[in-house]
Amino acid sequence: MTLPPWKIKVVEPISLPGPERRREAIEDAGYNTFLLRSEDVFIDLLTDSGTSALSQEQRAAMELGDEAYAGSRSFYRLEAAMQEVYGYRHLIPTHQGRGAEHLLARVLVQPGAVVPSNLYFTTSRVHVELVGGIWKDVSVPEASDPAAPFPFKGNIDLVALERVLHEHGPEGIAFVRQEACLNMAGGQPFSLDNLRAVRALTAEYGVPLILDATRMSENVVFIKDREAGQADRSFRELILELASLSDGAVFSSKKDHFVPIGGFLALNDDELAERAREVLVVYEGFAHYGGMAGHDMEALAQGIREAADEAMVRHVVAQAAYLGGLLAERGIPIVVPVGAHAVFLDAKRILPHVPQSAFPAQSLAAALYIAGGVRSMERGIVSGQHGDAPYDGLELVRLTLPRRVYAQEHLSYVADVVEAVCSDAAAIPGLAFTYEPEHLRFFLGRFEPTAPFPELSVRESGRTAPALVV
Ligand code: F0G
Repeated sequence: MTLPPWKIKVVEPISLPGPERRREAIEDAGYNTFLLRSEDVFIDLLTDSGTSALSQEQRAAMELGDEAYAGSRSFYRLEAAMQEVYGYRHLIPTHQGRGAEHLLARVLVQPGAVVPSNLYFTTSRVHVELVGGIWKDVSVPEASDPAAPFPFKGNIDLVALERVLHEHGPEGIAFVRQEACLNMAGGQPFSLDNLRAVRALTAEYGVPLILDATRMSENVVFIKDREAGQADRSFRELILELASLSDGAVFSSKKDHFVPIGGFLALNDDELAERAREVLVVYEGFAHYGGMAGHDMEALAQGIREAADEAMVRHVVAQAAYLGGLLAERGIPIVVPVGAHAVFLDAKRILPHVPQSAFPAQSLAAALYIAGGVRSMERGIVSGQHGDAPYDGLELVRLTLPRRVYAQEHLSYVADVVEAVCSDAAAIPGLAFTYEPEHLRFFLGRFEPTAPFPELSVRESGRTAPALVV
């Protein structure tokens, strides 16, 4: 068992709205969990982004925020923390991860240039495409197979990558992107060995390698636990090595760094950093705060150090494993192995009667809310399909764990809700768009059911209750 290395000092009340209110709320939200009001949500597993609990050290540090427009002490403290933990030369602060993705795309991607990546992340891909770049998936095939027990589904397929590098040559490639704990595949790590090989290939072809290091700390837990020869290395040493194998990284600090807002682009090349700063001052803010307040940068500097604390990060991964274990032992189809920050339900297997054109994962997410006030996120065709391109990829619902927020009792209740929905799965309808946005349609899209949702009720199993009543 991995015990939480913290105790709770401040609490936020939550309550379960009644069944009628839940039906009304999801209808008002167009059957899109993003459009629910949080006051209507009981257990919020929409995302681990910006939803973690701050530590007392982070809150205390926020008092030291230097809100100077230029030359802020808080910026220099943040830069020092980043350099200490990751070792990159330059920190370009942004309001969150997609701000960094935007800057990167503007400085590195020419129209027609290719960005090979392990699978994709929604905002990462859209920024490349908005400046005319072409996204190329070079993930290993196991990444798209929810049942494959492969331990490193975040790996890049080296043969596929070399083919793309060879075909387009250095002048046709903007950069190679490798994402830690590959979100869309289920939070799946890459191996150190794979990253070293990707590094060698990109060096041979002379193209930059940029990490999406948003969940790099958790990736290090998996490397220590699963990769031969890595178990006894220190957590910090491994983080530094991963970063040293790349030319730069995008960080959404709203995840591993335990902050509600913030992110940055880290780069080693002086000239590239200068160009990124020029774009920064146009779109985000001055070079010493980007999109953050001084107090945000203080919380982030402390959060970076906490993300290098192995016990803290292990607990995050252990919570996902705990929830995954509860679901797996009830025979519920989930993505295996359980990844970093979430448990992913396989909607294709849970709702086999709903064709992908009727959005099974979107519908399953709505059903979980109706049944028990649990908010999850669609990670299937609504998120993944692009324009009219054919899509037969993953169809998942993500139950994402905010860090340091929920107790085992909450997770046990979530497992009961999922089980209840799965036992009534045959009666769950598909959905149709009533409003389909042009970009990132999962955020703001609206739907209607193709038939009414069934009554969905939950019986709590009380699995965390003691076996003996005294
Ligand atoms: N990269 C990855 C791997 C992410 O998971 C995210 C955000 C981003 C970049 C963009 O960062 O949100 O700070 O602008 N993921 C969130 C999620 C939204 O729910 O998985 P952002």
